[in-house]
Amino acid sequence: MKLFNQRNALSKWVRQEKMAGKSIGFVPTMGALHTGHIALIKQARSENNLVVCSVFVNPIQFNKAEDLKAYPRTLDSDLAQLEQSGCDAVFCPEVKEIYPEPETRVYDFGHLDKVMEGRFREGHFNGVAIVVNKLLNIVEPHRAYFGEKDFQQLQVVRALARMEGHDVEIVSCPTVRESDGLALSSRNVRLTEAQRKEAPKIYQALQMARDLYPGHGVHFIKENVTAHINRSSELTVEYFEIVWADNLLPVDTPEAGRTAVACIAVYAGPVRLIDNLTLYS
Ligand code: PAF
Repeated sequence: MKLFNQRNALSKWVRQEKMAGKSIGFVPTMGALHTGHIALIKQARSENNLVVCSVFVNPIQFNKAEDLKAYPRTLDSDLAQLEQSGCDAVFCPEVKEIYPEPETRVYDFGHLDKVMEGRFREGHFNGVAIVVNKLLNIVEPHRAYFGEKDFQQLQVVRALARMEGHDVEIVSCPTVRESDGLALSSRNVRLTEAQRKEAPKIYQALQMARDLYPGHGVHFIKENVTAHINRSSELTVEYFEIVWADNLLPVDTPEAGRTAVACIAVYAGPVRLIDNLTLYS
């Protein structure tokens, strides 16, 4: 596995490989890799000749300094897992390499980046869009892989790729879960034993929403789901929304054949967990 710290060196290598006819799959990450990331890499592996992965904790997508500080950094274990899962090249830049100048760019994705995560994490999606745009410019992959756990991020990245004219296929991959339903996340390692025990209630509540939809009103579902989680002394719902999958606008009345998504953010102590589940009618 090749290791790059400099953007130009990586771009040069990728260009040579593309000239030799190789297809490139790209998996951007912030490290602290878990089975969910490895699933993205395996999918990229199966659909491309070469897989490039980035490990970069992007400071400008954190809206709280303490969250950035607490974000797990496990580079040695990340590199070992990447090597084992068949990654061909990894890009681990310093912050200065990605941001030689302070960033001033402001994206506007309409309501896509204003609701849910956008509402509670100001500037988050702008930071994600800036770094993903830079990474796509550096790697110029044929395909880039993103997890469905970050459903809103996926929609923002698709909009970004269209807006910036990136010639890349954005591929979404299903959420990987623990056997008790908890969605895999780099933040799970920060949960206390008591919080970890209660955290599967998030997925249970989403399943409850799926069972109640579309027979019950959206308001009723939101109240029941929120109450189910808030009954736990370890968990507090930040938001729970039912939105249309295609545009993230809130669902008022279910429509036959149109897919909705239940999206949730929950605090377990200081640890913020998000999850979502598709609802069919
Ligand atoms: O999903 C993530 O891990 C990050 O938001 C991403 C896409 C790597 C950008 O920093």
